[in-house]
Amino acid sequence: MCGIVGYVGSQDAAEILLKGLEKLEYRGYDSAGIALLNKGGVHVFKEKGRIAALRKAVDQSASGHLGIGHTRWATHGEPNRRNAHPHQSSNTRFTIVHNGVIENYKEIKQELLGGIQFNSETDTEVIVQLMERFVDDKGLQVEEAFRETLSVLKGSYAIALMDSENDHTIYVGKNKSPLLIGIGQDFHVIASDAMAALQLTNQFVELMDEEIVIVQNSSKTIKNLSGQMIHRSPFTVKLDAKDIEKGPYPHYMLKEIDEQPFVIRKLVTKYQNGDGEITIDENIREALQETDRIYIVACGTSYHAGLVGKQLFERIAHIPVEVHIASEFLYNRPLLSSHPMFIFISQSGETADSRGVLVDIKKSGYRALALTNVPGSTLSRESDFTLITHAGPEIAVASTKAYTAQIAVLAILASDCARNRGIQRNFDLFKELGLAANAMEIMINRKEQIEEIVWKYLSVSRNCFFIGRSVDYYVCLEGALKLKEISYIQAEGFAGGELKHGTIALIEEGTPVIALLTQPHVSGNIRSNVQEVMARGANVCMISIEGIEDKNDQLVVPHIHEYLTPLVSVIPLQLIAYYAALYRGCDVDKPRNLAKSVTVE
Ligand code: F6R
Repeated sequence: MCGIVGYVGSQDAAEILLKGLEKLEYRGYDSAGIALLNKGGVHVFKEKGRIAALRKAVDQSASGHLGIGHTRWATHGEPNRRNAHPHQSSNTRFTIVHNGVIENYKEIKQELLGGIQFNSETDTEVIVQLMERFVDDKGLQVEEAFRETLSVLKGSYAIALMDSENDHTIYVGKNKSPLLIGIGQDFHVIASDAMAALQLTNQFVELMDEEIVIVQNSSKTIKNLSGQMIHRSPFTVKLDAKDIEKGPYPHYMLKEIDEQPFVIRKLVTKYQNGDGEITIDENIREALQETDRIYIVACGTSYHAGLVGKQLFERIAHIPVEVHIASEFLYNRPLLSSHPMFIFISQSGETADSRGVLVDIKKSGYRALALTNVPGSTLSRESDFTLITHAGPEIAVASTKAYTAQIAVLAILASDCARNRGIQRNFDLFKELGLAANAMEIMINRKEQIEEIVWKYLSVSRNCFFIGRSVDYYVCLEGALKLKEISYIQAEGFAGGELKHGTIALIEEGTPVIALLTQPHVSGNIRSNVQEVMARGANVCMISIEGIEDKNDQLVVPHIHEYLTPLVSVIPLQLIAYYAALYRGCDVDKPRNLAKSVTVE
């Protein structure tokens, strides 16, 4: 949440910062701002709303070879211009952008910053006011004051700070929130995510927690908070700037939905060796061999992929699995088995709730595998092992291709475990994944039919229920999440059999119910549940699979192996959400109140 950029070099910083912020907008879009430093001093521009609004507000003549920028997802203080970053110290000498949450900001205000008139309601402002106090009252040098300030902070931060008396240096600090320094010919760029700087460089240096960097045109000095120098080699980001363009698509979400068959085929090549066998790090194999129970921990869509993963592990590899919402696990830890193994599923690899659990279980000495889309992300770095989901950059806030990639990797892992445990299965994994990719393509090509479903069932409705049984229930949870997050239609996913225990009271004339049926063993049951809601007036859209379809079903997905049906059945649900959001005039890629990467608890 929140994205920060910074630039120091010979080019004009304004356009570089604005372009960088446009790439980071997925991290939050409540307000945005930039600050530029030139001989005339610091110039701050900020605006409520999107980067487009900021762009208009930036004075065309504004220039500077050094600057910092921010796009905000509000935590402390309402999303308005006053609370937008950058923030300045009272004497305007120091200017800051910050991503994260300063947990002890109230104590700092009371104990260290008495008498100061604050200009915003943010937690961030204490950082810049502390800088002023440490420099003016304690007489510290700026770098020393910066380290001292960071030592006082509790919580998470990625910070870029400018000093109006020094037009060639940006001070950068990091704890828990991600931050990279991009290296160029006579310039440096600072970014929450490599995507914001890829137009300029593919060479980056990563920052670890409680480190600072003194960044200038042609030098960057990394230190810890005690001032000791740290040497770290740069790495190359193997991402093509084209991968993050929208191309001919009207929305990233549609592009990412369409990319799903390609992602599944890519995973087949990434996880298969020349002999057609699964290739996975031997250490992961060993850890999974030794475990008596897997604990999957994740949030949101990744949690829904985890639920599907539980079924895969239990059905294919006979390993018991528990799936936990990260924010619940942390404060309500279940009794663990004697040899637990943790799998953290996270598209971004930065989700604070999941990371909180990771830190906690590592203290107890347990081993963790991160299943993430972002190599080098925090979860990946801090886990014992990583498996990459290879979905490519996912820009739309609503997750689509990351979800199906997570399920495919879980299927690969479960199949590998089954083989290592000597379990014979009549399940040719890579062949079935290939067939699933073909079926996904077929569904993607049925957009017109799906658009009609939206028109028929959701054009006037304010609510919608999704029902399914077994693994279809898990996909229903995901379908409902997609619909509510981008179209703002109140949607709930229910286990078909559970409706009659209360929720059926909400069904009335015309209530849309989307029923999913891909599992033959629950076919009779779910069709009975459909009759129950239809008898009470529901407008039912039945989505079934070839082989168990009925001639009256609204949509029939191609037959694929029953273990892998979520890969295909989720596609119509993603597209239903997409078209519903379009009809309602919603911002598909940037739904209100959300951010792509949730780096606060
Ligand atoms: C929904 C969505 C979120 C994320 C959740 C976890 O479309 O994208 O629910 O799935 O915030 O994020 P990651 O997977 O990055 O940990």
